[in-house]
Amino acid sequence: MRGETILTGDRPTGPLHLGHYVGSLHSRLILQEENEQYVMIADMQALTDHMHSPDVVSHNVKELLLDYLAVGLDPDQSTLFIQSEVAALSELTLYYLNLVTWNRLKHNPTVKEEIVQKGMGESVPAGFMTYPIAQAADITAFHATLVPVGSDQLPMIEQTNEIVRAFNRLYGQSLVEARPYLPSQGRLPGTDGKSKMGKSLGNAIYLSDPIDVVRKKVKKMYSDPHHLRVEDPGRIEGNPLFLYLESFAQDTDHLQGMKEHYQRGGLADRIVKDYLTDCLIAFLEPIQQRRSEYANDIPFLLNTLKKGSQRAAAVAEKTLSEVKASVGLHYFD
Ligand code: TRP
Repeated sequence: MRGETILTGDRPTGPLHLGHYVGSLHSRLILQEENEQYVMIADMQALTDHMHSPDVVSHNVKELLLDYLAVGLDPDQSTLFIQSEVAALSELTLYYLNLVTWNRLKHNPTVKEEIVQKGMGESVPAGFMTYPIAQAADITAFHATLVPVGSDQLPMIEQTNEIVRAFNRLYGQSLVEARPYLPSQGRLPGTDGKSKMGKSLGNAIYLSDPIDVVRKKVKKMYSDPHHLRVEDPGRIEGNPLFLYLESFAQDTDHLQGMKEHYQRGGLADRIVKDYLTDCLIAFLEPIQQRRSEYANDIPFLLNTLKKGSQRAAAVAEKTLSEVKASVGLHYFD
């Protein structure tokens, strides 16, 4: 057994972007070195708001796997698996559903925000309302102690730990609590300067964006709205150009020099954008190169998912047996 046990995942609803990289992929690359890491493609969770477009979900399972492999998640170090291939997760969810009140679910801040953002109004699917409980099943099924996520997922970990405590109190110590592992860099804003980069917000740079698209997106990026003339002093705080460079600059001394110059005045946005473009290209090119190599090897992709899912299923199955035994539901031995 290596280090800590880690469970994390993403919904397969679209390609991953730079915000995902800064928010969680980067942590996973570091963590896979010395820990037992499970990375889940949450296709069932994706269905909670994509029930009318399951083809979007199934298509993106492969895309997500390609993004994972392209950034450097290594199937020999991390178990990459598909949620719907691990039936025990759904069964665990049913046991946990009884340990959470309806009222508690209604107050989950992430769920509340998503309901508004997705315009669900009064028609919130029960599966969507309860996905934090399924997420507790995902985490506890592997006895995960560490969950690398962006800050929007903190309420999910809190909910998981409430379930763990309730379960252990009622049925005896079976489950362990998990801690979040937050990115060292703050959240990457969108190219429009809005606080979050998101697919539905139209302000994302994707890991798989062709280089000319990256160029165009950077050119249009929001910066300091008061930096109108080159000679004016500019602000670097909250300026997306510098926030991106904080994560992707190749040369930190050069970045430091640019920051001072920008603040003094005399450094054009265009120059900063050109440097950012160069850095993003240097970052993305090898990723895209690997992505296209993996994309041609369908048998490898399928085999990776199959083997990963089988491994994950065996672990989750064992936890499910322990959970049932703790509740007292074992009849035949
Ligand atoms: N909710 C996560 C997202 O939207 C995906 C997810 C599902 C997850 N189960 C998880 C993340 C368990 C961490 C742990 O991206």
